[in-house]
Amino acid sequence: MAASMIFHISWITTVILICFSVKRVCCLIDLTPETVIQLSNKACVIAVTENAGLKDREDFYFLDDVSFANESSVFLGSVSLSDFTWPSNKQLELARYNDDPITDFSYVNFIIFTRKTTDRTCLLQPTDQRKRPPTAFGYKTSDFLLESINEKCGTYRTKKGLLTMKGLHRQYIHENIFHVHSILDSKNMSTIYQGFLDKEGSCQKGDGECNCAKSHSKNGILNLSLKFPHTTEMAKCERISLPTREEFFHDYLKLSKPVIITDAMKHWPAMARWTNSFLRKNFGERKVHIKLTRSGDYEGVEAASLWENFASFHIPDGVIQKLLYPDLVVVRPATNNMNFSEFLDLMELISGGNLTDISAYLEYSSISQYLPELKDDISEMTFFKDLLKLQHLNFWLSDGNTLGKLHFDPYDNFLCQVSGTKEVIMFEPHNNSRLYEGHIPEAMLSYNEKTGEFRRKSLVDSTSMVMSPVDILKPDMKRFPKFLDTHPLNCTISEGEVLFMPSFWWHEVQSYPSQKEARNLAVNFWYEPFLTKEFPCPECPLDINPKYRQLL
Ligand SMILES: *[C@@H]1O[C@H](CO)[C@@H](O)[C@H](O)[C@H]1NC(C)=O
Ligand SMILES: *[C@@H]1O[C@H](CO)[C@@H](O)[C@H](O)[C@H]1NC(C)=O
Ligand SMILES: *[C@@H]1O[C@H](CO)[C@@H](O)[C@H](O)[C@H]1NC(C)=O
Ligand SMILES: *[C@@H]1O[C@H](CO)[C@@H](O)[C@H](O)[C@H]1NC(C)=O
Ligand SMILES: *[C@@H]1O[C@H](CO)[C@@H](O)[C@H](O)[C@H]1NC(C)=O
Ligand SMILES: *[C@@H]1O[C@H](CO)[C@@H](O)[C@H](O)[C@H]1NC(C)=O
Ligand SMILES: *[C@@H]1O[C@H](CO)[C@@H](O)[C@H](O)[C@H]1NC(C)=O
Repeated sequence: MAASMIFHISWITTVILICFSVKRVCCLIDLTPETVIQLSNKACVIAVTENAGLKDREDFYFLDDVSFANESSVFLGSVSLSDFTWPSNKQLELARYNDDPITDFSYVNFIIFTRKTTDRTCLLQPTDQRKRPPTAFGYKTSDFLLESINEKCGTYRTKKGLLTMKGLHRQYIHENIFHVHSILDSKNMSTIYQGFLDKEGSCQKGDGECNCAKSHSKNGILNLSLKFPHTTEMAKCERISLPTREEFFHDYLKLSKPVIITDAMKHWPAMARWTNSFLRKNFGERKVHIKLTRSGDYEGVEAASLWENFASFHIPDGVIQKLLYPDLVVVRPATNNMNFSEFLDLMELISGGNLTDISAYLEYSSISQYLPELKDDISEMTFFKDLLKLQHLNFWLSDGNTLGKLHFDPYDNFLCQVSGTKEVIMFEPHNNSRLYEGHIPEAMLSYNEKTGEFRRKSLVDSTSMVMSPVDILKPDMKRFPKFLDTHPLNCTISEGEVLFMPSFWWHEVQSYPSQKEARNLAVNFWYEPFLTKEFPCPECPLDINPKYRQLL
């Protein structure tokens, strides 16, 4: 009896084990270190190890069959820890959820290998990124494994494979993200350029508002307002008065929707206090780092062949191949260090017309580093307190005739206008193939203080990743035809107005001087973005920054 019982039980056990192993031989793939590396270029890899007992295995199969069945960004398989060595002969390193290293692997039943993010910043890579091992976390039991996968892999699954509440919120965001074309009567660039570009996409000659570089130009630079014949038809930014925190988060921040807040800074002491004479009196001796150009264009793109060292400049072949526009360069302004009072003198000479063929800009100058006392006269947006992490607070001052060419910043931004106006023309970041996102080599202007001459002396050893090669004022439509598909948004702000510019929105900014003092003065707050993307990568979509999952 006893013997038959034992036989019976072990027979059943055997059958169950065979069932599982039959099922699993086909469905759970044994992963070699090489496969883990390959898979982790595209997905998060979750593995069960040989230490796992029956229950842990069953839980794992359930994750595979149900919870993550429809999740293409994770891959489940099994690994053997006993002989797991990376192809480079490096040993596997495992960390706990809190990043502490694990020394004893005998308790590790599961491993999460996180998806590798591509380093897109460096074009000259010494080692092949795709062969680099991923970061790995070890787990002892299947309790909370689902939550750990969600957190480490950026997924939002319930045990049954449905979306979690946060996952539903994220899905809502993706389905409702703001598009300029959703604004009634918004126009694309093709319509806006009509009568201005001929069929070939070149500038038309003759009358009308479209005389191109000649009649409307100052140093060959077109005037944004005069340039477009149909300016009133360009869609405009929404304008609101002070929102609540909830309104701002749900209607603008999470949907990546630009908005102008008309009454968020009018009470700032800065508005009345920051006159040129106040700045001179209190901070005149402070050192500042300024930018100089001849015409007032900052960081435009032009032909590399215009540069003196073009013929002798060598870009390594490996880099050239990865450049979409090796014939173009981003023109970095010349720089200079001086006392703040000297900068103000220079600025006043320029605006008074006593100095020509030069533009000086104190741009994105760190307030904490150079002028920390000014923080007392401004404040973060009340409806934004403790929402995102502040990364930079900048000061912008010029005579008011500057043009910042088309680019994006990887930050959520509040641009706060103290003096003068800024005409900000924006393009959404959802299909950046239309803006030709990519690395563009750089060059840096030289300025000779004695002669007052600017020279296009040297191409430099770096690339910009945030500039568009499209010049919206002198568009080369044969080369950049997809730009005609974009829908611009006009977000012009004047004194006392705040522009919320969501992360990664492209913008071209024409500044104009104030009537009172011949200058343009603004501050801006740059926050670690709520929605983020890899860049340069025209096809990479915006998604929730993993650091802000708790906000969903
Ligand atoms: C996965 O998606 C398919 C098709 O959309 C659906 O039929 C199936 O029920 C889903 N599976 C799970 C586990 O959610
Ligand atoms: C652009 O044109 C307007 C209207 O003529 C003028 O007021 C403004 O100063 C011009 N701006 C530049 C930068 O030339
Ligand atoms: C943008 O709007 C402002 C007023 O809000 C207007 O003065 C300007 O001409 C517009 N610019 C363009 C390029 O449409
Ligand atoms: C800048 O300020 C320092 C400190 O007062 C002063 O000694 C120096 O002369 C100033 N430099 C110039 C060029 O004015
Ligand atoms: C600028 O030039 C004007 C005349 O064009 C002159 O009256 C003025 O004094 C000059 N200002 C300075 C600071 O040199
Ligand atoms: C992006 O824009 C290009 C050009 O307008 C278009 O061909 C392509 O289909 C778009 N891609 C997506 C994902 O919408
Ligand atoms: C721009 O919009 C016009 C009018 O809606 C449309 O006919 C045209 O096809 C669009 N052009 C491009 C390049 O998207």
